[in-house]
Amino acid sequence: MIKIAPSILSADFAALGSEVAEVEASGADWIHVDVMDGHFVPNITLGPPIVKAVSAHTSLPLDVHLMIEKPELYIADFAAAGAAVITVHAEACVHLHRVIHQIKEYGLLAGVAINPATPASAVKEVLADVDMVLVMTVNPGFGGQAFIPGTVHKIREIRQWAAEIGHDLRIEVDGGIAQATARVVCEAGADVLVAGNAVFGQSDRAAAISAIRAAAAA
Ligand code: DX5
Ligand code: ZN
Repeated sequence: MIKIAPSILSADFAALGSEVAEVEASGADWIHVDVMDGHFVPNITLGPPIVKAVSAHTSLPLDVHLMIEKPELYIADFAAAGAAVITVHAEACVHLHRVIHQIKEYGLLAGVAINPATPASAVKEVLADVDMVLVMTVNPGFGGQAFIPGTVHKIREIRQWAAEIGHDLRIEVDGGIAQATARVVCEAGADVLVAGNAVFGQSDRAAAISAIRAAAAA
């Protein structure tokens, strides 16, 4: 079952409550929240108070993508703010295994993300420990960038490894996902699609979500 996770990075930040309520009513499965610290990525977005505020306006799971250094210092805060899924970057964690288990101690789903230049092998040793791998299909930092086709083989590789160990893993993709790219990544084995511009950038959000879902299943 494919999940569509609109990224609020492309929403109207002054109207976040109604924006998330609208995409929930339009068929979204998760709400993707991009947290950036200005160090791990060259942009600054939001923190736990905004996650908490958003959680009051939706019953959908909040899928928190931490593009920050030292994420281990903030897991408790994002858990308390209402995150259902917390994803940390492999590149940002010296003790990745420990951080993953820190997330799971809160009863949340734990994800690990890899940048376009990071090989799939960076997550192989923790595959059995995580609920989700996020394969970045753009360099993180900004919405509205072009999909990088060279990342797709990593989705296939990770899907294959998960099958080999019999692990029911979610594979999320993030960056430049729209109808055409949704088809490509789902065919490779992705099952959670983040879409910022392709949902929040469109006036008819319900039509946008249905179009991505239809393309993913085609
Ligand atoms: C990129 C973020 C993405 C971004 C995706 O750093 O992690 O979640 O919002 O935006 P689009 O779908 O517009 O590429
Ligand atoms: Zn993201």
